[in-house]
Amino acid sequence: MNFALLDGSLIDCILAIEKECFGAEAWTQRMLEESLSSVNTFFWGAFDDKNNLVAYAAIIRAEEMCDLIKIAVMLDFRSKGIADALLKFVFSEIKKSGVKKMFLEVNVGNTSAINLYTKNGFTVLLTRPNYYSGVQYTCRDALTMMAEI
Ligand SMILES: CC(C)(COP(=O)(O)OP(=O)(O)OC[C@H]1O[C@@H](n2cnc3c(N)ncnc32)[C@H](O)[C@@H]1OP(=O)(O)O)[C@@H](O)C(=O)NCCC(=O)NCCS
Repeated sequence: MNFALLDGSLIDCILAIEKECFGAEAWTQRMLEESLSSVNTFFWGAFDDKNNLVAYAAIIRAEEMCDLIKIAVMLDFRSKGIADALLKFVFSEIKKSGVKKMFLEVNVGNTSAINLYTKNGFTVLLTRPNYYSGVQYTCRDALTMMAEI
């Protein structure tokens, strides 16, 4: 598995992962275009041995802090340690540029993601009731988590 910073040239691949992983909550092409062109937003990807993008993570940076806004792994590539390795890669990259803390919001029902984050040093700061409003959510509350980089 290789990891690299992504740019807009891979938007179709990111969109395909987005649709597969988030369904009705997937970002649209326009939302992705805006994020990919933002100076404060960074996308990193994981590539398989055929150089296909199989996972990505995105952060928004604000000086010494950042928010993890997405991490997603294609269904066929899950439970192989890819999200864990990608998150560790993102940590090492942003640490080099002076980021010290990473924050995120996660649905209280997203056990896989919560376990991933906890394994990587995130702790719960607070619970946000009714953070998610879409009808597809069985759990609406979010946890705000934070990790020292
Ligand atoms: C959450 C997600 C990114 C995990 O990706 P992954 O590559 O399968 O995860 P990994 O194989 O690297 O697993 C790392 C850790 O995550 C946790 N984890 C991953 N899958 C899990 C599952 N099905 N059940 C419980 N914990 C799980 C475990 O702690 C695991 O460590 P372990 O193997 O030592 O137990 C993936 O399930 C996904 O893309 N989900 C949909 C998108 C999403 O909800 N993203 C998060 C919010 S933006």
